[in-house]
Amino acid sequence: MTVRESIDPAAHPPLTEQFLGPTGYSLLPGGYGRGLMAVAPWAPMAARGEGCRIVDEDGRSVLDLNGNFTSNIAGNAHPAVLSAVTEAAAGGLSFGMSNRYEIGHAERLLARFPGLDQVRYVNSGTEATMLAVRVARAVTGRDRIVVVRGSYHGWNDAVLPTGGPRAERGVPKATLADTLVVPFDDVGALREAARQGVAAIVLDLLPNRVGMTPPSDEFVQVAASLAWEGDAALIVDEVISFRLGLGGLTAARRVPAAMVALGKMIGGGLPVGAVVGAARWMSALDVFSPSGLEGGGTFSANPVTMAAGSAVLDLLDEREITRLGRLGERFRGGLTSTFAKHGWEPRGQGSLTRLFPLGLAGPGAVVESQRRLWWAAYERGVLIAKHGVAALSIPMTEEVVDHAVAALNEAVAVVRKAS
Ligand SMILES: Cc1ncc(COP(=O)(O)O)c(C=O)c1O
Repeated sequence: MTVRESIDPAAHPPLTEQFLGPTGYSLLPGGYGRGLMAVAPWAPMAARGEGCRIVDEDGRSVLDLNGNFTSNIAGNAHPAVLSAVTEAAAGGLSFGMSNRYEIGHAERLLARFPGLDQVRYVNSGTEATMLAVRVARAVTGRDRIVVVRGSYHGWNDAVLPTGGPRAERGVPKATLADTLVVPFDDVGALREAARQGVAAIVLDLLPNRVGMTPPSDEFVQVAASLAWEGDAALIVDEVISFRLGLGGLTAARRVPAAMVALGKMIGGGLPVGAVVGAARWMSALDVFSPSGLEGGGTFSANPVTMAAGSAVLDLLDEREITRLGRLGERFRGGLTSTFAKHGWEPRGQGSLTRLFPLGLAGPGAVVESQRRLWWAAYERGVLIAKHGVAALSIPMTEEVVDHAVAALNEAVAVVRKAS
């Protein structure tokens, strides 16, 4: 296989014209099976992953700083994960019975959240936040919830309104009315919303789409007190940020969460979601209680996902979190001055960074500038997420990080920011 000379988007037909179905339409809406990857108009396809690299269908090997949108913290095809998956899969992929792997996974999660009692598994982060909100509504008997503008919690109806008018399309008006959206870090608006009587306050302690900036201690403390005083659930969404501490940022910032929504890395690269919570809330999910909540999920807690996730949780111990955190500082430190020179900023914490263009008029210009950076980085052998997120993984070393820094500094210098 030869590496194509140019990956210039202008040199290739758009994906919508490359793969047509029998009726003449593009096989996939917009050319993609998963909207999240759309870097438009054309995009390379992954052929295989090896450690911290991915080889695309053209044979080009790129450094994987996307890690399937921060999920693959052990990199690609890590031997410990492969061996756990192979062993579990050899005994059957999924059953209509409980299995020992889910017990092992739940034990590992609860060891990281002292004070929380129980775990329920689902198949994505979206389902995890949906489930936590459902539990909060059922236990409190209230419908309204509070969320923070710009904080993405997946694409279930209850939390989509954080994303503004486009994200609200197709969500019933009654649902929109029950989701109270407050501006980021606005304590006054938070108090005002909570006063209306709410089932839950949903927080992300490092909201990616807000720009990977943590909410202030004051905002988090007020959210916790309002939840406590109003007998509402404080739900923390750690679908991305869990990798930043043994008990995620919830434990690191001592946030008294009623429930924590998890996903991404806890599945070891396979589809997963989970809610870890206090028994007071989680017991609403007890199927033997006459009022136990409905909760399906044919593939939830399947042995292969649970085995892969357990292997990753074992790899990501305190030492490894600290090592990745130091690498993250080295990474951001290496980018800061060149990025500043070109009007960009690397933001983030620990192993998570987001490359952010400064001084742009609106979200459209930010998204377009990040798309251009995506192409410039890919051309230089580095894969980031289209929204500028770069996540470090266990196979990475200082040498790898320095290589990424050099490539991204070169990339940012050639990108013309959108206006
Ligand atoms: C903070 C956060 N919560 C929830 C989700 C939804 O997770 P999933 O894509 O697994 O449904 C995401 C996905 O990116 C996320 O970043």
